[in-house]
Amino acid sequence: LAQGLRVGILGATGAVGTEILAILAERSFPVAELRLLASPRSAGQTLSFGETVLPVQAVSEETLKGLDLILASAGASVSRQWLPIAIQGGAIAIDNSSAYRMEPNVPLVVPEVNPEDLKTHQGIIANPNCTTILMTVALWPLHQVRPIRRIVAATYQSASGAGAKAMQELKDQALDILKGQPPRTEVFPYPLAFNLFPHNSPLNDQGYCQEEMKMVNETRKIFHAPELRLTATCVRVPVLRAHSEALNVEFFEPFPLQEARDRLQQAAGVQFVEDWQRNYFPMPLEATGKDPVLVGRLRQDISEPNALELWLCGDQIRKGAALNAVQIAESLIA
Ligand code: HSE
Repeated sequence: LAQGLRVGILGATGAVGTEILAILAERSFPVAELRLLASPRSAGQTLSFGETVLPVQAVSEETLKGLDLILASAGASVSRQWLPIAIQGGAIAIDNSSAYRMEPNVPLVVPEVNPEDLKTHQGIIANPNCTTILMTVALWPLHQVRPIRRIVAATYQSASGAGAKAMQELKDQALDILKGQPPRTEVFPYPLAFNLFPHNSPLNDQGYCQEEMKMVNETRKIFHAPELRLTATCVRVPVLRAHSEALNVEFFEPFPLQEARDRLQQAAGVQFVEDWQRNYFPMPLEATGKDPVLVGRLRQDISEPNALELWLCGDQIRKGAALNAVQIAESLIA
Protein backbone atom coordinates (compact mmCIF):
# COMPACT_ATOMS: atom_id res chain seq x y z
CA LEU A 1 0.00 0.00 0.00
CA ALA A 2 1.18 3.50 -0.84
CA GLN A 3 0.92 6.54 1.43
CA GLY A 4 -2.29 8.57 1.30
CA LEU A 5 -4.96 5.92 1.07
CA ARG A 6 -8.59 5.87 0.10
CA VAL A 7 -10.03 4.17 3.18
CA GLY A 8 -13.52 2.83 3.81
CA ILE A 9 -14.97 1.85 7.19
CA LEU A 10 -17.79 -0.64 6.78
CA GLY A 11 -20.10 -0.67 9.80
CA ALA A 12 -18.91 2.86 10.60
CA THR A 13 -21.73 3.71 13.02
CA GLY A 14 -21.23 0.70 15.36
CA ALA A 15 -19.16 0.57 18.55
CA VAL A 16 -16.09 -0.81 16.75
CA GLY A 17 -16.56 1.38 13.63
CA THR A 18 -16.61 4.62 15.63
CA GLU A 19 -13.56 3.45 17.62
CA ILE A 20 -11.68 2.73 14.35
CA LEU A 21 -12.51 6.26 13.21
CA ALA A 22 -11.16 7.73 16.47
CA ILE A 23 -7.97 5.63 16.32
CA LEU A 24 -7.26 6.55 12.67
CA ALA A 25 -7.46 10.23 13.67
CA GLU A 26 -5.41 9.75 16.89
CA ARG A 27 -2.61 7.91 15.12
CA SER A 28 -2.61 10.23 12.09
CA PHE A 29 -3.17 7.30 9.74
CA PRO A 30 -2.33 8.50 6.19
CA VAL A 31 -5.85 8.94 4.82
CA ALA A 32 -6.35 10.63 1.46
CA GLU A 33 -10.10 9.95 1.39
CA LEU A 34 -12.33 8.41 4.03
CA ARG A 35 -15.70 6.82 3.26
CA LEU A 36 -18.01 5.90 6.11
CA LEU A 37 -20.18 3.01 4.96
CA ALA A 38 -23.09 1.34 6.70
CA SER A 39 -26.49 -0.17 6.05
CA PRO A 40 -29.03 2.05 4.22
CA ARG A 41 -30.74 2.48 7.64
CA SER A 42 -27.73 4.36 9.03
CA ALA A 43 -27.02 6.36 5.85
CA GLY A 44 -27.47 10.11 6.27
CA GLN A 45 -25.97 10.25 9.78
CA THR A 46 -22.73 12.18 10.23
CA LEU A 47 -19.59 11.32 12.20
CA SER A 48 -16.51 13.41 13.08
CA PHE A 49 -13.04 12.52 11.88
CA GLY A 50 -10.73 14.93 13.68
CA GLU A 51 -12.04 18.37 12.68
CA THR A 52 -13.97 17.07 9.67
CA VAL A 53 -17.62 16.00 9.73
CA LEU A 54 -18.31 13.18 7.28
CA PRO A 55 -21.59 11.73 6.02
CA VAL A 56 -22.40 8.03 6.43
CA GLN A 57 -23.22 6.47 3.05
CA ALA A 58 -25.06 3.25 2.25
CA VAL A 59 -22.63 0.51 1.23
CA SER A 60 -22.97 -0.38 -2.47
CA GLU A 61 -20.81 -1.36 -5.43
CA GLU A 62 -20.60 2.33 -6.22
CA THR A 63 -19.48 3.46 -2.73
CA LEU A 64 -16.87 0.65 -2.56
CA LYS A 65 -15.29 1.63 -5.88
CA GLY A 66 -11.67 2.83 -5.87
CA LEU A 67 -10.92 2.05 -2.20
CA ASP A 68 -7.36 0.97 -1.29
CA LEU A 69 -8.27 -0.29 2.17
CA ILE A 70 -11.50 -1.29 3.84
CA LEU A 71 -11.79 -1.79 7.59
CA ALA A 72 -14.91 -3.88 8.15
CA SER A 73 -16.63 -3.92 11.52
CA ALA A 74 -20.11 -5.09 10.54
CA GLY A 75 -21.54 -8.59 10.95
CA ALA A 76 -20.31 -11.73 9.18
CA SER A 77 -23.12 -11.72 6.60
CA VAL A 78 -22.37 -8.10 5.64
CA SER A 79 -18.68 -8.95 5.24
CA ARG A 80 -19.49 -11.99 3.10
CA GLN A 81 -21.72 -9.86 0.88
CA TRP A 82 -19.44 -6.87 0.34
CA LEU A 83 -15.77 -7.74 0.95
CA PRO A 84 -15.37 -9.95 -2.16
CA ILE A 85 -16.64 -6.99 -4.22
CA ALA A 86 -14.26 -4.58 -2.50
CA ILE A 87 -11.19 -6.78 -3.05
CA GLN A 88 -12.21 -7.47 -6.65
CA GLY A 89 -11.95 -3.71 -7.08
CA GLY A 90 -8.37 -3.76 -5.72
CA ALA A 91 -8.92 -3.00 -2.02
CA ILE A 92 -7.31 -4.86 0.87
CA ALA A 93 -9.93 -5.76 3.49
CA ILE A 94 -9.28 -6.09 7.24
CA ASP A 95 -12.34 -7.84 8.59
CA ASN A 96 -13.40 -7.79 12.21
CA SER A 97 -16.23 -10.29 11.76
CA SER A 98 -15.96 -14.08 12.09
CA ALA A 99 -16.75 -14.59 8.36
CA TYR A 100 -13.27 -15.46 7.11
CA ARG A 101 -11.21 -16.09 10.27
CA MET A 102 -10.85 -19.83 9.91
CA GLU A 103 -10.40 -19.93 6.12
CA PRO A 104 -6.95 -21.41 5.39
CA ASN A 105 -5.95 -18.75 2.85
CA VAL A 106 -6.95 -15.85 5.14
CA PRO A 107 -4.32 -14.77 7.69
CA LEU A 108 -5.64 -14.22 11.20
CA VAL A 109 -3.32 -11.65 12.70
CA VAL A 110 -2.35 -10.13 16.03
CA PRO A 111 0.55 -7.81 15.11
CA GLU A 112 2.45 -8.49 18.36
CA VAL A 113 2.23 -12.25 17.71
CA ASN A 114 2.20 -13.31 14.05
CA PRO A 115 2.89 -10.26 11.82
CA GLU A 116 4.72 -12.49 9.30
CA ASP A 117 1.38 -14.10 8.38
CA LEU A 118 0.32 -10.82 6.75
CA LYS A 119 2.58 -11.63 3.79
CA THR A 120 0.30 -14.50 2.78
CA HIS A 121 -2.87 -12.45 2.34
CA GLN A 122 -4.89 -12.63 -0.85
CA GLY A 123 -6.95 -9.50 -0.24
CA ILE A 124 -8.64 -10.33 3.06
CA ILE A 125 -6.98 -10.27 6.48
CA ALA A 126 -9.04 -11.34 9.48
CA ASN A 127 -8.99 -9.66 12.87
CA PRO A 128 -9.42 -12.28 15.63
CA ASN A 129 -12.19 -12.35 18.22
CA CYS A 130 -11.64 -9.93 21.11
CA THR A 131 -11.04 -12.50 23.87
CA THR A 132 -8.56 -14.32 21.61
CA ILE A 133 -6.60 -11.13 20.87
CA LEU A 134 -6.29 -10.20 24.55
CA MET A 135 -5.21 -13.73 25.54
CA THR A 136 -2.69 -14.21 22.73
CA VAL A 137 -1.00 -10.85 23.40
CA ALA A 138 -0.47 -11.93 27.02
CA LEU A 139 0.57 -15.54 26.37
CA TRP A 140 2.75 -15.21 23.26
CA PRO A 141 5.79 -13.82 25.15
CA LEU A 142 5.66 -16.93 27.37
CA HIS A 143 4.85 -19.46 24.61
CA GLN A 144 7.78 -18.15 22.52
CA VAL A 145 10.35 -19.28 25.10
CA ARG A 146 8.60 -22.30 26.66
CA PRO A 147 5.79 -23.77 24.60
CA ILE A 148 2.37 -24.01 26.21
CA ARG A 149 0.84 -27.45 26.60
CA ARG A 150 -2.64 -26.54 27.88
CA ILE A 151 -4.68 -23.44 28.72
CA VAL A 152 -7.76 -23.34 30.95
CA ALA A 153 -9.42 -19.94 30.54
CA ALA A 154 -12.33 -18.23 32.25
CA THR A 155 -13.45 -14.91 30.80
CA TYR A 156 -15.44 -12.11 32.42
CA GLN A 157 -16.91 -10.21 29.46
CA SER A 158 -18.46 -6.77 29.66
CA ALA A 159 -21.81 -5.69 28.25
CA SER A 160 -20.11 -3.71 25.47
CA GLY A 161 -19.11 -7.01 23.84
CA ALA A 162 -22.80 -7.34 22.97
CA GLY A 163 -22.91 -3.82 21.46
CA ALA A 164 -23.72 -0.24 22.40
CA LYS A 165 -27.41 -1.03 23.02
CA ALA A 166 -26.40 -3.70 25.53
CA MET A 167 -24.42 -1.12 27.53
CA GLN A 168 -27.48 1.14 27.69
CA GLU A 169 -29.67 -1.81 28.69
CA LEU A 170 -27.31 -2.68 31.56
CA LYS A 171 -27.52 0.91 32.89
CA ASP A 172 -31.31 0.95 32.52
CA GLN A 173 -31.63 -2.42 34.25
CA ALA A 174 -29.57 -1.22 37.22
CA LEU A 175 -31.82 1.84 37.61
CA ASP A 176 -35.00 -0.25 37.18
CA ILE A 177 -33.89 -2.75 39.83
CA LEU A 178 -32.90 0.00 42.28
CA LYS A 179 -36.35 1.58 41.78
CA GLY A 180 -37.99 -1.81 42.43
CA GLN A 181 -39.27 -2.07 38.84
CA PRO A 182 -38.95 -5.11 36.53
CA PRO A 183 -35.77 -4.64 34.44
CA ARG A 184 -36.03 -4.16 30.65
CA THR A 185 -34.62 -7.19 28.75
CA GLU A 186 -34.49 -6.50 25.01
CA VAL A 187 -30.84 -7.13 24.10
CA PHE A 188 -30.09 -9.62 26.89
CA PRO A 189 -32.38 -12.59 27.54
CA TYR A 190 -32.28 -12.10 31.34
CA PRO A 191 -31.31 -9.23 33.66
CA LEU A 192 -27.52 -8.72 33.60
CA ALA A 193 -27.45 -5.97 36.27
CA PHE A 194 -26.48 -7.43 39.69
CA ASN A 195 -26.21 -10.79 37.92
CA LEU A 196 -24.05 -12.69 35.38
CA PHE A 197 -24.59 -15.21 32.59
CA PRO A 198 -22.45 -18.39 32.72
CA HIS A 199 -22.03 -18.34 28.92
CA ASN A 200 -22.26 -15.46 26.45
CA SER A 201 -23.99 -17.09 23.44
CA PRO A 202 -26.03 -20.27 22.70
CA LEU A 203 -24.36 -23.59 23.50
CA ASN A 204 -23.41 -26.30 20.99
CA ASP A 205 -24.03 -30.06 21.46
CA GLN A 206 -20.91 -30.33 23.62
CA GLY A 207 -22.07 -27.48 25.87
CA TYR A 208 -19.60 -24.88 24.52
CA CYS A 209 -20.64 -21.42 23.30
CA GLN A 210 -19.32 -19.81 20.12
CA GLU A 211 -17.00 -17.48 22.01
CA GLU A 212 -15.34 -20.45 23.73
CA MET A 213 -14.82 -22.29 20.43
CA LYS A 214 -13.44 -19.09 18.85
CA MET A 215 -10.81 -18.91 21.61
CA VAL A 216 -9.84 -22.53 20.98
CA ASN A 217 -9.70 -22.49 17.18
CA GLU A 218 -8.37 -18.99 16.63
CA THR A 219 -5.55 -19.33 19.19
CA ARG A 220 -4.38 -22.54 17.52
CA LYS A 221 -4.31 -20.76 14.15
CA ILE A 222 -2.53 -17.62 15.41
CA PHE A 223 0.10 -19.62 17.35
CA HIS A 224 0.46 -22.15 14.49
CA ALA A 225 -0.16 -24.76 17.19
CA PRO A 226 -2.89 -27.14 15.99
CA GLU A 227 -2.21 -29.48 18.93
CA LEU A 228 -2.55 -26.79 21.62
CA ARG A 229 -4.99 -27.94 24.32
CA LEU A 230 -7.35 -25.16 25.39
CA THR A 231 -10.69 -24.99 27.12
CA ALA A 232 -12.61 -21.87 28.11
CA THR A 233 -15.68 -20.73 30.01
CA CYS A 234 -16.89 -17.36 28.70
CA VAL A 235 -19.03 -15.46 31.19
CA ARG A 236 -20.98 -12.21 30.65
CA VAL A 237 -20.62 -9.91 33.67
CA PRO A 238 -22.27 -6.57 34.50
CA VAL A 239 -19.17 -4.52 33.63
CA LEU A 240 -19.77 -1.79 31.06
CA ARG A 241 -16.57 -1.99 29.05
CA ALA A 242 -13.33 -4.06 28.97
CA HIS A 243 -13.06 -7.82 29.28
CA SER A 244 -11.12 -9.78 31.92
CA GLU A 245 -9.66 -13.28 31.76
CA ALA A 246 -8.32 -15.74 34.34
CA LEU A 247 -5.79 -18.05 32.67
CA ASN A 248 -4.28 -21.28 33.93
CA VAL A 249 -1.35 -22.02 31.65
CA GLU A 250 0.47 -25.35 31.70
CA PHE A 251 3.85 -25.69 30.00
CA PHE A 252 5.83 -28.84 29.11
CA GLU A 253 8.32 -27.91 31.84
CA PRO A 254 8.34 -25.59 34.87
CA PHE A 255 8.38 -21.86 33.98
CA PRO A 256 10.34 -19.93 36.66
CA LEU A 257 8.12 -17.18 38.00
CA GLN A 258 10.74 -14.42 37.76
CA GLU A 259 11.48 -15.31 34.14
CA ALA A 260 7.76 -15.17 33.30
CA ARG A 261 7.46 -11.80 35.05
CA ASP A 262 10.46 -10.44 33.11
CA ARG A 263 9.02 -11.67 29.80
CA LEU A 264 5.65 -10.03 30.51
CA GLN A 265 7.24 -6.77 31.69
CA GLN A 266 9.12 -6.49 28.39
CA ALA A 267 6.37 -7.75 26.09
CA ALA A 268 4.93 -5.62 23.30
CA GLY A 269 1.28 -4.75 23.89
CA VAL A 270 1.38 -5.75 27.59
CA GLN A 271 1.39 -3.52 30.67
CA PHE A 272 2.33 -5.51 33.75
CA VAL A 273 0.24 -4.28 36.69
CA GLU A 274 1.00 -5.69 40.14
CA ASP A 275 1.21 -3.82 43.41
CA TRP A 276 1.15 -6.38 46.20
CA GLN A 277 1.37 -3.70 48.94
CA ARG A 278 -1.80 -1.97 47.74
CA ASN A 279 -3.37 -5.28 46.68
CA TYR A 280 -3.76 -3.67 43.27
CA PHE A 281 -4.05 -5.77 40.10
CA PRO A 282 -5.65 -5.21 36.65
CA MET A 283 -9.31 -4.17 36.69
CA PRO A 284 -11.62 -3.51 33.74
CA LEU A 285 -12.26 0.11 34.74
CA GLU A 286 -8.52 0.78 34.51
CA ALA A 287 -8.23 -1.05 31.17
CA THR A 288 -11.08 0.97 29.63
CA GLY A 289 -9.79 3.25 26.86
CA LYS A 290 -6.20 1.93 27.17
CA ASP A 291 -4.20 0.33 24.37
CA PRO A 292 -2.16 -2.31 26.24
CA VAL A 293 -3.49 -5.50 27.76
CA LEU A 294 -3.09 -5.20 31.54
CA VAL A 295 -1.59 -8.39 33.00
CA GLY A 296 -0.93 -9.27 36.63
CA ARG A 297 -1.63 -11.57 39.56
CA LEU A 298 1.00 -13.88 38.13
CA ARG A 299 1.66 -16.87 40.37
CA GLN A 300 2.75 -20.47 40.42
CA ASP A 301 -0.18 -22.92 40.27
CA ILE A 302 0.10 -24.78 43.59
CA SER A 303 -1.61 -27.84 42.08
CA GLU A 304 0.69 -28.32 39.06
CA PRO A 305 4.47 -27.64 38.97
CA ASN A 306 4.44 -26.91 35.22
CA ALA A 307 1.62 -24.34 35.37
CA LEU A 308 1.28 -20.61 36.01
CA GLU A 309 -1.85 -18.61 36.77
CA LEU A 310 -2.39 -15.08 35.51
CA TRP A 311 -5.09 -12.47 35.18
CA LEU A 312 -5.65 -9.90 32.44
CA CYS A 313 -7.97 -7.03 31.55
CA GLY A 314 -8.16 -5.35 28.16
CA ASP A 315 -10.39 -2.91 26.34
CA GLN A 316 -11.93 -5.34 23.90
CA ILE A 317 -13.30 -2.60 21.62
CA ARG A 318 -9.83 -1.05 21.38
CA LYS A 319 -7.04 -3.68 21.38
CA GLY A 320 -9.62 -6.45 21.11
CA ALA A 321 -10.99 -5.05 17.85
CA ALA A 322 -10.45 -1.54 16.45
CA LEU A 323 -6.83 -0.94 17.46
CA ASN A 324 -5.74 -4.40 16.31
CA ALA A 325 -7.29 -3.71 12.88
CA VAL A 326 -5.56 -0.33 12.60
CA GLN A 327 -2.23 -1.86 13.68
CA ILE A 328 -2.62 -4.45 10.90
CA ALA A 329 -3.22 -1.61 8.43
CA GLU A 330 -0.16 0.24 9.75
CA SER A 331 1.97 -2.89 9.28
CA LEU A 332 0.84 -3.06 5.64
CA ILE A 333 2.08 0.45 4.89
CA ALA A 334 5.25 0.29 7.02
N1 HSE B 1 -17.82 -11.74 21.23
C1 HSE B 1 -17.48 -10.69 22.10
C2 HSE B 1 -18.44 -10.61 23.26
C3 HSE B 1 -17.46 -9.41 21.36
O1 HSE B 1 -19.57 -11.10 23.11
O2 HSE B 1 -18.09 -10.07 24.28
C4 HSE B 1 -16.09 -8.88 21.16
O3 HSE B 1 -16.09 -7.55 21.70
